[in-house]
Amino acid sequence: LELKMNIEQIEKGGYDHFMLKEIYEQPRAILDTYRGRLRADQGIVKMAGIDEHLEKFMNANRVIIVACGTSWHAGLVAEYIFEDLARIPVEVEYASEFRYRNPVITDKDVLIAISQSGETADTLAAIKLAKDKGAFVFGVCNVVGSSIARETHAGAYTHAGPEIGVASTKAFTTQITVLTLIALKLAKEKGEVSESNFHQFLTELETIPSKVEKALESNPLVEIISDVYKDSTNCLYLGRGYNFPVALEGALKLKEISYIHAEGYPAAEMKHGPIALIDDQMPVFVIATKKGHYEKVVSNIQEIKSRKGKIIAIVTEGDEQVTELADHVIEVPETYESLTPLLTTIPLQLLSYHIAVMRGCNVDQPRNLAKSVTVE
Ligand code: G6P
Repeated sequence: LELKMNIEQIEKGGYDHFMLKEIYEQPRAILDTYRGRLRADQGIVKMAGIDEHLEKFMNANRVIIVACGTSWHAGLVAEYIFEDLARIPVEVEYASEFRYRNPVITDKDVLIAISQSGETADTLAAIKLAKDKGAFVFGVCNVVGSSIARETHAGAYTHAGPEIGVASTKAFTTQITVLTLIALKLAKEKGEVSESNFHQFLTELETIPSKVEKALESNPLVEIISDVYKDSTNCLYLGRGYNFPVALEGALKLKEISYIHAEGYPAAEMKHGPIALIDDQMPVFVIATKKGHYEKVVSNIQEIKSRKGKIIAIVTEGDEQVTELADHVIEVPETYESLTPLLTTIPLQLLSYHIAVMRGCNVDQPRNLAKSVTVE
């Protein structure tokens, strides 16, 4: 037993928990994900799984993304990127719903299945269904040789390295990285992006690991903020556009490991319900980066403030307007709007981690949850 504990200590690499280690591994993991694929200097994205089946993607009527949990949130981010950059219609589905609702699928559809473990039963079933109906099925997995990696026609690994903490962190950001590379590649092939914009985008993508590093520097501040809100019973997470899925993911992280009820919402939907919940006891985490509907999110923040909600905002470095209004702000570096999820998600991961630790929860193995769900 003692030996086992020592091995675990070594595996944690000096961190108290796997989750924290994996959060801190993200700059490296993202780099490993695009290493050898992204060649900014040559202006190319090389991905064998796409290159070999390019016509499937080029002729696709639409892309259907299926996944569960955090991977489903990565799929939602991908929907924005694919439509925005590559102009391909995308639908994102919970694998568990998709598999049972007799979906209309043809051989003109491309299905992308996203899964860290590559073993999620519902996602596997969705793949089999789509294959039976003639769709081309592409996998985005982390675990090499997993069932989903084997069941799909082609795929791209995330190369995040083993993820042990049940709450997914580095798998999420590396999934987004892979999907961004695919969207960019298709945008280029379809002529939806100019040579120079494509080049600039690749160059910006290469700055992401160091910007994630910078976002991780918010950790001491996030710990202080966590202490203020650790006893909350409810939290709201709001974001718009590319950061709406980040709001969902932030809320999921808090639920999973801190056992605090949290809901993520698109900021503009607040007025259709959640605003009724806001009082001086309600912390509201708002992603309010400079790009992407900033002014609109500012007015949402004003509405929360006038109802005495507590506002914790994730903002772009140097922000003034939101900083003036919010109770706390956490800064992340500036980047392209479509890449902001890779940065804004970092402080939210750290927040859920610290709150869980402060509440004495089992961070790496939260109650009732499993790392991979191989049954329905
Ligand atoms: C479980 C895990 C989550 C994960 C989800 C999907 O619920 O606890 O962290 O996001 O399954 O798993 P997958 O391996 O398919 O990404």
